[in-house]
Amino acid sequence: MFQSSLNYKADKKSIGFVPTMGALHKGHLSLVRKAMDQNDIVVTSIFVNPIQFNDPGDYENYPNTMEKDLALLEELGCDIVFCPSRESFYQEQPKSGFGFGNLDHVMEGANRPGHFNGVAIVVSKLFHSVLPDRAYFGLKDLQQFLVIERLNKDLGFGVEIVGCPTVREESGLAFSSRNLRLSKEGLENGLILSSTLSLVVQKILAGKRVKEVLTDARVMVAQNNNVSLEYLEIGDMVDLSPVSKFKNGSRYAVCGAIWVEDVRLIDNLIFEFP
Ligand code: PAJ
Repeated sequence: MFQSSLNYKADKKSIGFVPTMGALHKGHLSLVRKAMDQNDIVVTSIFVNPIQFNDPGDYENYPNTMEKDLALLEELGCDIVFCPSRESFYQEQPKSGFGFGNLDHVMEGANRPGHFNGVAIVVSKLFHSVLPDRAYFGLKDLQQFLVIERLNKDLGFGVEIVGCPTVREESGLAFSSRNLRLSKEGLENGLILSSTLSLVVQKILAGKRVKEVLTDARVMVAQNNNVSLEYLEIGDMVDLSPVSKFKNGSRYAVCGAIWVEDVRLIDNLIFEFP
């Protein structure tokens, strides 16, 4: 892989890179399509990264649909699929630690200790292997996207980080590999997350106060016995710091995490305050 990336570079071919953990869905494929539009060569990686799972059960139950993934990527025309083995990436347990300021202390950072450190280590290793010009990340994982932008700046990878919009089912549910673990009822119950996020944005844009809007929305989710709310917050687009007063023309995100049938789902909506 390293050798072939260098060959492409020598031929002045641009390399677009889409890191994934497999169980590919339409969200992943939209990233691959965008990478294909903007680059000569596209590399997709499939690697379920053990060090970013703070819950061992979540790692063990992470869906694996490798054969189907490879067929989808081939059909789409992705040039290279990079599937490193666990042993090749982690001969030893990594000891380095990254810090991302406020991003470590809110939302996913607060609720999944060590998660972004694990993501930063694997993405660094993947960047070193693939040597991409551009790398594609979904805004569905907004906090991860902000972490990667920071990592790229701080470590000087010089990769263009491209954020791609969240792809949703017609129902509004964001595509996620973890949706494969939900029953039909679970998928319906999970809809409360995207519908609550939309309601929050509507109310904020209608001029309602942040604190009241969030309190009402949390109560609404809590009343549904089939899901449990982990967090629902509004943050700025720099490091997801909490917002008390909106600035006209600035962008913000309302982000949430819920549990449905022992599966954790996250989602967010980005909006501009007019
Ligand atoms: P994974 O969850 O497989 O997601 C791979 C990429 O697909 C991420 O950039 C994610 O934000 C994006 N994605 C997931 N669902 C999406 C949707 N509905 N619409 C648009 N994009 C979506 O995120 C990871 O893997 C890992 O943390 C990784 C970056 C590969 C590091 O291990």
